Amino acid sequence: MATAGRLKLSSWRWCLRVVPQSRALAALVPGVTQVDNQSDFLGKKPHRQHPGVLHLPHVRLPPALANAAQILLLDSTVSDVEDKVQTLTNYLWSRHLPVEPEELQRRAMHLEKKFLENPDTPQTEKKLQAAVLHALRRTTYHWQELSYNEELSLVYMAARLDGGFAAVSRAFHEIQTRIPQFQPQTMMDFGSGTGSVTWAAHATWGQSLREYMCVDSSAAMLNLAEKLLKGGSESGKSYVPAVFFRQFLPVSPKVQFDVVVAAFALSELPSMADRTAVLHTLWRKTSHFLVLVENGTKAGHRLLMDARDLVLKGKEKSPLDPRPGFVFAPCPHELPCPQLMASQPLACSFSQGYHPIPFSWNMRRLQSQAEGTHLKSQHSAEPEAGVFQV
Ligand SMILES: C[S@@+](CC[C@H](N)C(=O)[O-])C[C@H]1O[C@@H](n2cnc3c(N)ncnc32)[C@H](O)[C@@H]1O
Repeated sequence: MATAGRLKLSSWRWCLRVVPQSRALAALVPGVTQVDNQSDFLGKKPHRQHPGVLHLPHVRLPPALANAAQILLLDSTVSDVEDKVQTLTNYLWSRHLPVEPEELQRRAMHLEKKFLENPDTPQTEKKLQAAVLHALRRTTYHWQELSYNEELSLVYMAARLDGGFAAVSRAFHEIQTRIPQFQPQTMMDFGSGTGSVTWAAHATWGQSLREYMCVDSSAAMLNLAEKLLKGGSESGKSYVPAVFFRQFLPVSPKVQFDVVVAAFALSELPSMADRTAVLHTLWRKTSHFLVLVENGTKAGHRLLMDARDLVLKGKEKSPLDPRPGFVFAPCPHELPCPQLMASQPLACSFSQGYHPIPFSWNMRRLQSQAEGTHLKSQHSAEPEAGVFQV
């Protein structure tokens, strides 16, 4: 029986482009040019058959990856995995962006003013400060950095490997469909985690890719990614050749990669300053496409819009590569996002179906769905993705 979960994927694939010849290529959706969008090119066909709608059927994990994940989970000593998967999933989907220091300061001053206006205000400076701090803690979202140790890495794999792979595959599919002649040779993945991006890149451009660079600050995650590539064991041959692991992002702009990816990774950084610094580095290291993927939540949408603006407004990519970029997908423009201009800003997201790894809880959930029982599905993820191109 074919089993399928649902997952939503962003409406944000952006391409930034400098080389005129490439821009012309990127503007083309097979069968349609941007100039003839007034003409009746659809004829009597329904809109869902618009050639610009780049469907990707339900994504299935490479069997070697799904098997390795199941082996690793079976071999692990982690208890209550299902509960931990649910807790992590809920946490990731309800996560907001960290509050910036300037905003904290603004709120603190506002609270202090309110306390001072109150006749019952604390008598001493020290007491006033304590009251402000207490109120601030009570009313401010407390963003927590996740420490991907061995257990959390495994739980993350169980929770997100299949959905993450599907989301990134969808973004790669768009590039491949619109520019079939693009044959990347090198790929760098920032915050590589389980290595799902490497697997998706290999599935898309395995013929041409000859180097995959995985960067992750967590040694446990890098270890897990390597084991997944080796079929769930420490030794053995890697399913994908030429994968290199690094704990630190190489900053030199001299070495560039054809495709640079950050999937669900920018949201792990503790401040806008950190995200800005990482984005600048990633962009400098991009020779063709920068692909950004985040959850399709308001926070994910906001974060990707900030990233888009940062890249578009950057004066110069790097002294070694001054080419500017442009949005490749999903937006057909580089104007402010209308979704964010609304009085109640909405998250913009896409949907991508995938076949979940047959972990016991996934099978139960699918069984319930098949029987018509309503269960809150963890596959209703709504990642956002952005693709930049230079
Ligand atoms: C949510 S996981 C995403 C993993 C992977 N990209 C995926 O899609 O499955 C985020 C990863 O970013 C890594 N990370 C967080 N901060 C980092 C940093 N400053 N440098 C490199 N990696 C970082 C974490 O260790 C974690 O593995």
